[in-house]
Amino acid sequence: MSKLIISLSLFAVVIACAGKEPNKYAAAPDGEAIFKKYCVLCHGVDGKLGLNGSKDLSISKVTEAERIVQITKGKNTMTPFEGILSPQEIKAVAAYSMTLTKK
Ligand code: HEC
Repeated sequence: MSKLIISLSLFAVVIACAGKEPNKYAAAPDGEAIFKKYCVLCHGVDGKLGLNGSKDLSISKVTEAERIVQITKGKNTMTPFEGILSPQEIKAVAAYSMTLTKK
């Protein structure tokens, strides 16, 4: 009898876990969340703030590949994010920044 209860409760645990969202930390980094945390200071939520001489991202012509380099290495007063963000996070935030640019 007790064996049956144990296997039933194990079964319940397996079912409960199977229904959960995929592990947050295993998922791809959230570019929007990173932008809101690290970039809005100078660029603003919509990319147009232009603080500290930062460029208006809504009209930027810079490609995604160039953004990755610039976010990693910085430029003039823009902070280099190498060491602050992982390469995957930089890629995600560069991709997100592209969505702020009007096509
Ligand atoms: C300390 C202020 C500051 C922060 C924080 C900052 N930037 Fe910048 N950003 C700048 C400045 C200043 C420039 C213009 C650099 C130049 O060309 O002289 C710039 C330029 C850019 C450009 C190029 C735009 C263009 O058209 O030339 C991109 C893309 C960009 N930033 C993305 C980001 C992203 C993404 C983040 C967050 C990870 C970020 N920035 C955080 C100040 C900042």
